[in-house]
Amino acid sequence: MNLKKSLAMQQRAKERIPGMTQLLSKRPDMFSSGVWPAYYTKAKGVEVWDLDGNQYIDMSIAGIGANILGYADDDVDAAVVNAIQNGSSSSLNCPEEIELADLFCELHPWADKVRYARCGGEGMAIAVRIARAHTGKDIIAFCGYHGWQDWYLAANLGTENALGEHLILGLDPAGVPKGLAGTALPFRYNQIEELEAIIAKHGNNLAAIVMEPTRNHDPLPGFFDRVRELADTSGAVFIIDEVSAGLRMNTGGAHLLYNIKPDIAVFSKSLGNGFPMAAIIGRGEIMDSAQKSFISSTMWTERVGPTAALATLKKHREKNVGEHLIKIGKMVQEGWSACAENAGLQISVGGIYPCSHFGFTHEKPQHLKSLFIQLMLEQGFLASNLCYAMYAHTSEHVNQYLTAVEKAFREIADAISKNDIEKRMKGAPSSTGFKRIA
Ligand SMILES: Cc1ncc(COP(=O)(O)O)c(C=O)c1O
Repeated sequence: MNLKKSLAMQQRAKERIPGMTQLLSKRPDMFSSGVWPAYYTKAKGVEVWDLDGNQYIDMSIAGIGANILGYADDDVDAAVVNAIQNGSSSSLNCPEEIELADLFCELHPWADKVRYARCGGEGMAIAVRIARAHTGKDIIAFCGYHGWQDWYLAANLGTENALGEHLILGLDPAGVPKGLAGTALPFRYNQIEELEAIIAKHGNNLAAIVMEPTRNHDPLPGFFDRVRELADTSGAVFIIDEVSAGLRMNTGGAHLLYNIKPDIAVFSKSLGNGFPMAAIIGRGEIMDSAQKSFISSTMWTERVGPTAALATLKKHREKNVGEHLIKIGKMVQEGWSACAENAGLQISVGGIYPCSHFGFTHEKPQHLKSLFIQLMLEQGFLASNLCYAMYAHTSEHVNQYLTAVEKAFREIADAISKNDIEKRMKGAPSSTGFKRIA
């Protein structure tokens, strides 16, 4: 494979952009430095073209979950082009944001009011600010990943590794004011006693309980009812982070499927099918506390985000996209397991179907991941141990992909048995966690 231009661009990025990219998950070292193309010239449907003209079917991260319909979706793009041609921003506000608010409240009858931002971490920071403004309290009990902002990284101030189980191991909260120590306290999904312990100690200063509805597991029976109860008894705002889970299995939040009753829910990522957009929806009296604080930004008023979100949500509902994503993801998960068994490889498979992942059960899993990525690229697939389903994926794409996966798995099994994994690798082992790039 010719990657000359891709690798030259990566070298330039190392010199100009700290960390190379704006998102950890799109750094080439998270896949395999030396073989991962990292840059694209064009993306359409499920296909991506790199700088050297190599063409791939993308069975990897689908814009890390942003491109839920597929790349350059004709319907969303047509709506956005129309918005651009009629002025994507002006001195007046765009009416699309009211239409979108109405649609959100129709999809989520428990919610009355909506605010907007343009990305997930920002949306979560707004939700947390509203909760703190509403309650007059400081502490946030959280589970899972919720963005890069101070309120969240504060969890690692003065603690051994509070974010280790929720984000990545060994993250130094450099740049986060030390005065925020003790304001963000983690608990694990389905471990209600950990949340109970936080509340027993800090219940009188608890502003919010922040969680994803699901990531890898379904909730245990009664888990979210108890979370709701604990929010009520402590007076905390219950915030559901739908940034990743939203729109994957249904049109709206995954919390609707699990009958979770939040006070606020936050959407982003897939909401604009790749165009920046975030929505914070919630119960009226709590959302009104946004007015006690100052939450305001010029670029939250542009027109492309709400236009893209409206077009994405409408198409999502009309085409029952959630059902399709579940079907594609199920094929992928079952296919991985079958391919591994046929090849004699040990893997563990997990995730909700639309956001599937697997891991190699081996002493060098990051080496095997890197070799897998390389072998899949050579067969024309962008692939990793994560597979986000897109509406543009068809069963035919998955079947082609699984044929390639089986071939790759067989070669990996052969490399393991001959003990020559490193010799076959053309790139670096895949990175885990956060590290500096030299
Ligand atoms: C659950 C969750 N919350 C928040 C975020 C942060 O969103 P963004 O990357 O758009 O800032 C993410 C991103 O992956 C996420 O998965």
